[in-house]
Amino acid sequence: MLEMQRLSGEALNQFIPQLASLRIQVFRDFPYLYDGDLQYEARYLQTYIQAPDSVIVLAFDGDKVVGASTGIPLKYETDEVKAPFINAGIDVDSVFYCGESVLLSQYRGKGAGVAFFDHREAHARELGGYQYSCFCGVQRAEDHPHRPADFKPLDTFWRKRGYEKRPELQTTFHWKELDEEQESAKPMMFWMKKL
Ligand SMILES: CC(C)(COP(=O)(O)OP(=O)(O)OC[C@H]1O[C@@H](n2cnc3c(N)ncnc32)[C@H](O)[C@@H]1OP(=O)(O)O)[C@@H](O)C(=O)NCCC(=O)NCCS
Repeated sequence: MLEMQRLSGEALNQFIPQLASLRIQVFRDFPYLYDGDLQYEARYLQTYIQAPDSVIVLAFDGDKVVGASTGIPLKYETDEVKAPFINAGIDVDSVFYCGESVLLSQYRGKGAGVAFFDHREAHARELGGYQYSCFCGVQRAEDHPHRPADFKPLDTFWRKRGYEKRPELQTTFHWKELDEEQESAKPMMFWMKKL
């Protein structure tokens, strides 16, 4: 059984190396195909440590971190995350942004992903003042050459958590894929739910 812990701020520092390698390992797979780098990851994770009211939910098997999930008020996110909301006339202060969830594959299908959403949404509700929770997912072609035959999109899982796709809210993130020489833009679509 996994133990879940909600952590914020400096308490997260000790977990940075574990979190960074976990993200790199999980995001190597389709649909991300992310060729991660530990230094970038450590810097990225600092955003969550420094930003007020952010949270990381850790899943432990004993003392090993096997999963993690991030959340941050949208107002503290980068311009590429905020821009679609501003353009759509949505008040950035009213939105809590769920960054990502990663879980080692052998621990999947046992409820940790549901718990990650429950914890982040509970955190946003406890903070107060947030009307919406959102996250975004990468969009990949159905016939993408790296799509595994048994790949199961998370759309059904997300809908069951109450989120709806918002095609008017799109942005691009940049990362380097496993077979790329340098970073390229990836189309991202947002999903939202009312809290
Ligand atoms: C996203 C991710 C964290 C989900 O984790 P997970 O632990 O497998 O998810 P869960 O087990 O909570 O949910 C999966 C299904 O099992 C069900 N389930 C199985 N046992 C359960 C239990 N004991 N309690 C609750 N739900 C359970 C859930 O209801 C869900 O079914 P649904 O899709 O029909 O709603 C995991 O798939 C992952 O790391 N994927 C790779 C990275 C990724 O794509 N992240 C998302 C975007 S950043």
